[in-house]
Amino acid sequence: MAVTLKTLPVSLSAMDVMLDAPVIPVIVLNDVAHAVPMARALVAGGIRMLEVTLRTPVALQCIELIAKEVPDAVIGAGTVRSASDAQAVQLAGARFAVSPGYITELGRACRDMGLPLLPGVATGSEIMMAQADGFSELKFFPAMQAGGMAMLKAWSGPFGDVRFCPTGGVNAQNAPDFLALSNVACVGGSWLVPSSAMEQGDWAGITALAAQAASIQR
Ligand code: 3PG
Repeated sequence: MAVTLKTLPVSLSAMDVMLDAPVIPVIVLNDVAHAVPMARALVAGGIRMLEVTLRTPVALQCIELIAKEVPDAVIGAGTVRSASDAQAVQLAGARFAVSPGYITELGRACRDMGLPLLPGVATGSEIMMAQADGFSELKFFPAMQAGGMAMLKAWSGPFGDVRFCPTGGVNAQNAPDFLALSNVACVGGSWLVPSSAMEQGDWAGITALAAQAASIQR
């Protein structure tokens, strides 16, 4: 079944990245050969904002390949921790960046480069630092370990102008509950791209997981 994807603005914002689908897949690629079929499988299921983490030696090469070969995907990079990471991923073709924490150097670099960034936060002080630098669309990481839904509910008072993407321990079972919270725009998770499915070349299985994730109400 072909999935119809809406037209995106030429210049993406962090909110565009968050609102495109209920789930941003957190992808760890160990094999360059998996990059393109994995990206196509996710797009076929209706998920095109893809976060390829900078955790393996082939990550940048995979970002570059997906950017070139899968035009319907919007390739992004995760585990971006420094200005030089941000420069490297943009050069490889990434159109957004996600970080596990926040430092001003990274925020400034992404702003100067026009690269939308979802900075990672886990405390009120980190939210305040990110907001002081102009970022109000944030990744809550590691979400389950750092307080889960109760933490997001507590933050909705003092940080009512922030929208979160909880990531870390989010799965198909608890994602609907996270997405029902008013301050959650989307969630992130690796459950859509199990390494076993990639090893086995089970691309149809990944499409099915993506289609299920894309259909979660928020
Ligand atoms: C991440 O690595 O950004 C998240 O930890 C992904 O977490 P998960 O594997 O629990 O989805």
